[in-house]
Amino acid sequence: MTMKPINIYLIIAIVLAGCNQKQKKENFQYERVQENSSEVIQNTDLQNTVILNSNDAMLFDKKVIKVSYGENITLTLNHVGKIGKDFMGHNFVLLKKGVDVDAFAQRAILARDNEYIPEGDEIIVTTKMLGGGESDTIVFDAPEPGKYIFICTFPGHYQLMRGEFIVI
Ligand code: CU
Repeated sequence: MTMKPINIYLIIAIVLAGCNQKQKKENFQYERVQENSSEVIQNTDLQNTVILNSNDAMLFDKKVIKVSYGENITLTLNHVGKIGKDFMGHNFVLLKKGVDVDAFAQRAILARDNEYIPEGDEIIVTTKMLGGGESDTIVFDAPEPGKYIFICTFPGHYQLMRGEFIVI
């Protein structure tokens, strides 16, 4: 009979210890907030003069382009390959938000007479279609902040030749 109170205290102690552990676990789940991250992006990644290279391997050399809102953007597309534009044409086509990229690219295939730019209002800006060794520079105002998609509309290219155009 004298053991009973001790047992109860033991049980209470174990239960309390269990609660304590649970609390500690929860406290560790807060994510660390990185300070000054936006400042770092502005100082290093934003560029309002963009050089984008494309090649005979059907690739752009950038997957992400970041620019700042309200700025005038100067973008130069270079085709650094050797193959002509009938077989390895490249352009830079910046699409408006919400455009169905697959559907748009399918329509572009039919627009051969217009450098593979289909009629419609899905495009913010586009360069000329380039062959190897050619370049084109376009100047435009950065659209409102957000994420946009850019592609090359030459038939069969957009799945590899696409990237994000981010306006901050
Ligand atoms: Cu292309």
